[in-house]
Amino acid sequence: MRILSIETSCDETAISIVEVDEDRRVTVLSDEILSQASLHAQYGGVFPAMAKREHARVIAPLLLLSLKQSGMLKAGASISLEKKEQIEKILEREQDLAILFLKDIATLERPNIDRIAFTRGPGLEPALWVGINFARALALLWDIPLVPVNHMEGHILSALFDAKTTKLPVLEYPILALLISGGHTELVRMDGIGTYTLLGETQDDAVGECFDKVARMLGLPYPGGPEVATLALHGKPGIYPLPRPMIHSHNLDFSFSGLKTSVLYLVKKLGTLEEQTKKDIAREFEDAVVDVLVSKSKVALSRIGAKGLVIGGGVSANVRIREGLKKLCDEEGVDFFAPSKGLSTDNAFMIALAGIEKNVIPPTSSILAEGHWKIHS
Ligand code: KG4
Ligand code: ZN
Repeated sequence: MRILSIETSCDETAISIVEVDEDRRVTVLSDEILSQASLHAQYGGVFPAMAKREHARVIAPLLLLSLKQSGMLKAGASISLEKKEQIEKILEREQDLAILFLKDIATLERPNIDRIAFTRGPGLEPALWVGINFARALALLWDIPLVPVNHMEGHILSALFDAKTTKLPVLEYPILALLISGGHTELVRMDGIGTYTLLGETQDDAVGECFDKVARMLGLPYPGGPEVATLALHGKPGIYPLPRPMIHSHNLDFSFSGLKTSVLYLVKKLGTLEEQTKKDIAREFEDAVVDVLVSKSKVALSRIGAKGLVIGGGVSANVRIREGLKKLCDEEGVDFFAPSKGLSTDNAFMIALAGIEKNVIPPTSSILAEGHWKIHS
């Protein structure tokens, strides 16, 4: 079975084409990503209208590149007037994309693809719409079923994916999932792919958002997470003590806005920041985040009797967070699953993995973006 997958939930436009065999081994035929991060950097965060425009500008050429790399780019087809009108309707809010689509894609022969997986949510709705409408137009053109995918489930599956066997392993459940990204900080009980229960979540800022805001306070560009992490590498611990919010609360919820505000007050109090001071603040901030995430995960692991811990979302790229959680899992005697480096942040391969697992819907389905779509009950 061949899956084409499309991701446009935030500021990366990504398309992958994968093949899965009867043993559920996954082979990547192409995996492309275009990041808009440098465009948004001037605004200090993702600007939704610009994200939408960029996705619409690059998604058709990106598909052509993906098909070419998979050996499936063949021109020479023609489109019926009826289909042309239906596609124009689907892409009526993305006029420029509709023109590109009818010129460059509608003239291709139908590629050997069995389903089209796409991110339906959560994410920025204007950005999501581009991927959804593009997937619907392709499904209609080639009569290929669709699979709506939850972006966060994609993050989880990319962490569980075993690069050595190129399979999703058969696991013992329950597994604790810690979802940490620009929009999420959640502890979720996983009883199988598709079966999730919320255990706790942030009451205010997401941890990635907090990294990005602290980065801004330290004069670093967006996205701030990797920048703060790099500074923290050379920082001394404990120089500027910061709080560990809710670390002793008797629930599994988080709060990061107090930590962010503490950094703001500290930065204001210190005035001009020397390079070493910035490094020391970054280090203490990262330590506070690690302490909170490890402590809450420890409680959650024992509360549900988890057999393993999986982390997903862009913040799972953070080396010290990974190390802290790995150590916890070693101490608790449970498995630890983290995405490989390239799969930590947004990508289309993770959407393909989820697309393998989920049920298809008809090519002509009408679909709504769901900016706040939850994976859990
Ligand atoms: O999952 P993701 O790529 O997009 C969302 O779905 O939100 O996550 C992006 C978030 C950003 O807040 C970014 O600063 C953060 O992940 N991030 C990191 C690191 N790499 C990315 N945060 C901390 N340390 C990192 N190394
Ligand atoms: Zn993400």
